[in-house]
Amino acid sequence: MVNKKVLVTGGSGYIGARLCLHLANEGYAVTPLCYSKIPSDENWISKMDRVILGDIRDEVFMQEVAEYQYDILVHLVSLDHHQSNGSPSFVSSVNITPVWSMLDIFSKKGLGKFIYFSTAQVYGMLKDEVVTESKKLNAQNAYGLTHQIGELICEHYDKTTAVDCCIVRLSNSYGAPLFEENNCWWLVVNDLCRMAYIQKEIILQSDGTPLRDFIHGWDVCYGVQNIIETPEKNLTYNLSSGTTLSIMDIAKKIKAVFAIRYGIELPISATDQKNKTESKRYQLDNSLIRSIGFEFKLSLEDGINNLFDYLEHNNE
Ligand SMILES: NC(=O)c1ccc[n+]([C@@H]2O[C@H](COP(=O)([O-])OP(=O)(O)OC[C@H]3O[C@@H](n4cnc5c(N)ncnc54)[C@H](O)[C@@H]3O)[C@@H](O)[C@H]2O)c1
Repeated sequence: MVNKKVLVTGGSGYIGARLCLHLANEGYAVTPLCYSKIPSDENWISKMDRVILGDIRDEVFMQEVAEYQYDILVHLVSLDHHQSNGSPSFVSSVNITPVWSMLDIFSKKGLGKFIYFSTAQVYGMLKDEVVTESKKLNAQNAYGLTHQIGELICEHYDKTTAVDCCIVRLSNSYGAPLFEENNCWWLVVNDLCRMAYIQKEIILQSDGTPLRDFIHGWDVCYGVQNIIETPEKNLTYNLSSGTTLSIMDIAKKIKAVFAIRYGIELPISATDQKNKTESKRYQLDNSLIRSIGFEFKLSLEDGINNLFDYLEHNNE
């Protein structure tokens, strides 16, 4: 059997590095497209079909990349929500235009599937509701807006070309980075675990009521594999745990894991107590992705333990 060729843009990024490793271990011929530098991890590199370096904004370069005739492209490049508040022309040159140009280029080179990573932030403010993929989008920030536009471009190419476009609305991922340079310590679970490990306390930057749905990086990889391998045709998937927790809930879970592991009861303090409001719990429905075979492999407790394992082995 010829292994399917997968191109992963943002291939050495936080989600990309793990996804490339996962798909390579599952027998795919994976090409990470890296930006600014190629990772130094020889073991990771040895598993890849080829590793390339370049800028997705460079259309001439992307034309050359497309000559390799990929079956699947997973697009993971985006500025994060802080960087996306930059100038509109710069932000759209990274977050939006390449989605269009890549679909234009690769649809003419026989691409089978284009998997676009979007975000649950495209839904905007959520109430106590079950959020399915058919909910009207209502992004409330520039980051969500650019993903909302990226989704529209995918929908257009899905309708008008032979490329099967799939949109992944990811909730909040977490987990130890594969590479030290990965931009991931601002993610809530990662940040709180590191704070617990280093400072021996958990200080929240809110009253603890904001809500999140957390999914471990390895589960994200399994979800993408399900989307690659399913014969079902769906345009959009929520990729979430389906369980909504408050930041205080997650702090308490980290405290409980820490107590079992190290025998220490960590203090938790929340700032901004005066503005305490009780958030209603929404649920990011994941029944569609579960219907194509997605199952969780990692509980939150296991994911938190993995983070502490990482912190022990990489103690600065
Ligand atoms: N991490 C999460 O929890 C999360 C949640 C929801 C959605 N997402 C989405 O998933 C995708 C991947 O997220 P991530 O956390 O891995 O982000 P990341 O920042 O770690 O990865 C993005 C990668 O893109 C690269 N890149 C930036 N500009 C580039 C360019 N011009 N050309 C080529 N590469 C370029 C960066 O170097 C980086 O490696 C993004 O679209 C993000 O919006 C992530």
